[in-house]
Parts: sequence; C-alpha cells; structure tokens
Amino acid sequence: MKTLTLIKPDDWHIHVRNGAILKTVLPHTAKQFGRAIIMPNLKPPVTTVDQAQAYKTEIMAAIPVDSEFTPLMTLYLTTQTELSEIKKAAESSFVHAFKLYPAGATTNSDSGVADISAIYPLLAELEKYDLPLLIHGEVTDPTCDIFDREQRFVESSLTEIVNKFPNLRIVLEHVTTTDAVDFVLKAGPQVAATITPQHLLFNRNALLAGGIRPHYYCLPIIKRESHRQSLVNAATSGNPKFFLGTDSAPHLTHTKENACGCAGCFSAHAAIELYAEAFEQADALDKLEAFASFYGSDFYRLPRNTATITLQQSTWTVPASYGTDEVKITPLKAGEEIHWKII
Ligand code: NCD
Ligand code: ZN
Repeated sequence: MKTLTLIKPDDWHIHVRNGAILKTVLPHTAKQFGRAIIMPNLKPPVTTVDQAQAYKTEIMAAIPVDSEFTPLMTLYLTTQTELSEIKKAAESSFVHAFKLYPAGATTNSDSGVADISAIYPLLAELEKYDLPLLIHGEVTDPTCDIFDREQRFVESSLTEIVNKFPNLRIVLEHVTTTDAVDFVLKAGPQVAATITPQHLLFNRNALLAGGIRPHYYCLPIIKRESHRQSLVNAATSGNPKFFLGTDSAPHLTHTKENACGCAGCFSAHAAIELYAEAFEQADALDKLEAFASFYGSDFYRLPRNTATITLQQSTWTVPASYGTDEVKITPLKAGEEIHWKII
C-alpha cells in the first residue's frame, strides 16, 4: 500500500472555539499537527495578552495527554487596541500575530475594524516589533458582490497597507482568487498566504449546483473553477509564500443547516488527508511536505518540526457528524470517501 511520510505539519489558521466545541474539535488537530495558529474571534474576542494566556490555558487542558501539540496564540485587532498591548505581545513567548477582520466580514467580526486607515498607528507598531499581521481580506461594502469582495480588498486596502508598511510581515489568509494569488506573487517576501483544503478541492458548484449545500459555505466564499486552479498552482508550485492554513471553522450543525446559515467549514477531522487528495490530483504529492510542514514555520521564524507523520493510501468514509447530540458538528465531506488516512 502506498504511504507518504512527512515532517509533522502545522496549521497556520484554525478556529477551535472554546467550551464544549473546543473539547470536541481539538483532538483532531492535536493528532495531525505540531502547532496551530489559533484565531481569536471568540465572543468576546481575544484582544489582550492576558486573555490569550487564559485561552491558551483552556486549550492546553483540552489536548489529549499523548499529544505534544502547541497552540500559537493571536490577538484580535480593534480600534481600541492599545499600542502598549503590541509591545506586550511581542515580548510574550506565546502570542505570534495579530488578526485584522474588516468589521462585519465574517463570523464574530462585529468588533473588527470599519476604517482600516484608523488603525495605521497600530500597523506601524506591529511593523516596529516585527509581529505578523494576519488579514481576512474581504471588503464589507454591502453593494460589492460577495464573489468580488476579496479581489476588491486586494486592489484597495491591501495594496495601500503593503505600500505604507513595507517591512510589515503579512499573511493574506485563506486566499480564494487568482487576483489574490497574483498580488502575493508580485509582493516582496514579507507577504505570504494560507490556502484551505476546501478552496483547493471545490469550486462554487459544490456549494450551489443541484441544491444549496451549507457545509460548503465559508468566507471568503468558494469561487469559480479558474480561481481554484490558480490556488492549486500556487500551493503546488513550491513557492514558500503559500502554506497550509485549514481555516477549519466548526459550527453546530443546526446553525449551518438553517435559513440563515453560518459561514465556516469544519475540516480538522481530515485536514492533511484532504490536502493530500488535492496535491495528488495535481500530480504534486512531492510538494506537499514543504507546503504543510516547512514554509509556514519559516515565515513565522519558528523551528521546523522534527517528528513525522505517515499517511497511507486507503479509503475511508467520513462520519455524518462528530460530537454528541448537544455538540453536533458536520464535517467537510460528511458521508463521503477520502482516499488517504493518517496512520
Ligand atoms: C470563520 C469562523 O467561523 O470563525 N468562518 C469562515 O467562514 N471561514 C471566520 C473566518 O475565518 O472567516
Ligand atoms: Zn478563519
């Protein structure tokens, strides 16, 4: 049977929530990944180093005893963020980045920033302390078509941020368009991007053709096939600007299967397997290890992992859901087959 051994990967973008959902989802990530960048969009958001410390403690308590998983914490930027908090974060050993959400762009982003130029002094401080800025890159202008929101953000806000802060390290999170890929390619080495498994594997037909499939609804929304191909090309190119970030974003099943369903795909149950499928389809399995295990840690200036994981080419069926009746989460590809399995 065909196997694939990789240096243990890291997930550079994940939502693990808190409370009962955290306990349900975290073991999946802790089984596959050495580290993960933990998104701060809790309710209320994680905005201070002290809150990140408390959240980290809660996460550590949910890690299975046999796992050596390390959560890498982030803080949520708001117009209320104090300059001193950035210094404090830089001096901490466990806060690795700040996350910028345009206000209203996605799940739990009402504390986000409406006018990005209002936080330029904070971006200058991040640049000074060399702390990466992670960006949800979508405009929130309600007149802008939802399929164009990333492209518009790249043309407007992102171009200005990159020009004004040339030494600020930036990760454009979960890129979904040719436009975003091209922007990252043209920018200097300080600008990188994460790519999710759903945006590599599916185009918008998976979401909308033949019926609305809410478990494929995430933000930025899945785009047309030509964009998917650009993402596959970027991920499998061997360019260190592109690395793994699942954006696994668990929501209770009933909140997604709803007249107004939440945005987010839960993919932690099979993250590295889903990427393996995408890379195999592109005949680029030899490029998976660097994308999953090297480029992210290099960008964050953290040591690469040394342990390994092994995947085996074997077919299994994804369960219909994970968790209990109270905390029921429907995973990506629920009830469908996946052809790689971590052993
Ligand atoms: C994320 C969530 O649910 O927290 N949802 C999503 O669709 N990706 C937020 C985000 O990263 O946009
Ligand atoms: Zn996210």
